[in-house]
Amino acid sequence: MSKDELILPKDFPELKNDTFLRAARGEQTQHVPVWCMRQAGRYLPEFREFRAGKDFFDTCRSPEACCELTLQPLRRFDFDVSIIFSDILVVPQAMGMEVQMVPGKGPTFPDPLKDPEDLQRLKTKVDVKKELDYVFKAITLTRHKIEGKVPLIGFTGAPWTLMSYMIEGSGSKTHSKAKSWLYRHPEASHMLLKMLTDIIVDYLLGQVAAGAQALQVFESHAGILGPTEFKDFSLPYLRDIARRVKDQLKETGQDVPMIVFAKDAHYGLEDLSQSYYEVVSLDWTIDPQSARERTGGKVSLQGNMDPCALYAPKERISEIVQKMLEGFGTQRYIANLGHGMYPDMDPESVGAFVEAVHKHSRQMNKQQ
Ligand code: CP3
Repeated sequence: MSKDELILPKDFPELKNDTFLRAARGEQTQHVPVWCMRQAGRYLPEFREFRAGKDFFDTCRSPEACCELTLQPLRRFDFDVSIIFSDILVVPQAMGMEVQMVPGKGPTFPDPLKDPEDLQRLKTKVDVKKELDYVFKAITLTRHKIEGKVPLIGFTGAPWTLMSYMIEGSGSKTHSKAKSWLYRHPEASHMLLKMLTDIIVDYLLGQVAAGAQALQVFESHAGILGPTEFKDFSLPYLRDIARRVKDQLKETGQDVPMIVFAKDAHYGLEDLSQSYYEVVSLDWTIDPQSARERTGGKVSLQGNMDPCALYAPKERISEIVQKMLEGFGTQRYIANLGHGMYPDMDPESVGAFVEAVHKHSRQMNKQQ
């Protein structure tokens, strides 16, 4: 038995900074909590050094490695929350598909789904506890090793985003293969989306049981759909996931905030704010004030600085942050980027971003 198997999802250290959880639940905070999507990533020299020469998914399958990579950004920056190092594509792997991370190309499925008949290749009933236990172990280990400094977020890809990878087989500009299923095979598409939804619900509940204190659902490919297809093939599944996870958690008296990030789905903002998620995460193409108006105080908001603003000088980052805070206000708000960090970004800019969010939001709260 390895060392981490002796670590159980109980007797976790007491949480010292609950600012993120308070903002997610819509409670008052003294400062705006902040984190960055892909905060554990190749922009950190220590991340590149640790990952060097190792296969990406082997790294995902090692709880000790995931724990170390999750903790790395917390040693450098005053982030208010951490997110477990893993990947959304572990779910298609659990369903029996092969996925490789090809350096310079990104995630690649050697044998993607081509026709509806290919659905028969997938495992219909996935024993999530068995297939994804390595993620649960990583969460439990990390929750202990964070020592209560900040909460730990678990995550999943949303059904449409996973479906599009499973059909495209890799990143795509048009997503035309995956989208052609929506128009040519709507029934098979719904069948696949439903299969994914069932697995995702179990997966998220398993993450909470393992120690995750919040959950984020990444619908990274929402923007490739139009409003009609979004309402048909994405939104119902996003809602179903949140409703079912919340209902089941309620039965055991638990309540874990959930965040939905449907990138580039402007047209869906009102619907997303009424979809059982406490937090709606925004990409950078939405104006903060109009996002507030359109969500009408129903949810907390997260985002949405253009990641490329991190290429600006520190003083400019500070100004951009101040403007963003004025737009969102300092309550019911979690500062973040509008999408993930890029590998060529300077860690010092991340430090400047975090510092600016804390400094300006404290000042604004004092003035109110
Ligand atoms: O710090 C964090 O945010 C937590 C870790 C995390 C990773 N992937 C680690 C990772 C999270 C939350 C993800 C989610 C993920 N994975 C998404 C949804 C978020 C988004 O970006 O929209 C998607 C679409 C994926 C699929 C994926 N995995 C892509 C497109 C890539 C990049 C490939 C490339 O070469 O640029 C990955 C690989 C990946 N996942 C990396 C990291 C840190 C970089 C590769 C490496 O470490 O070798």
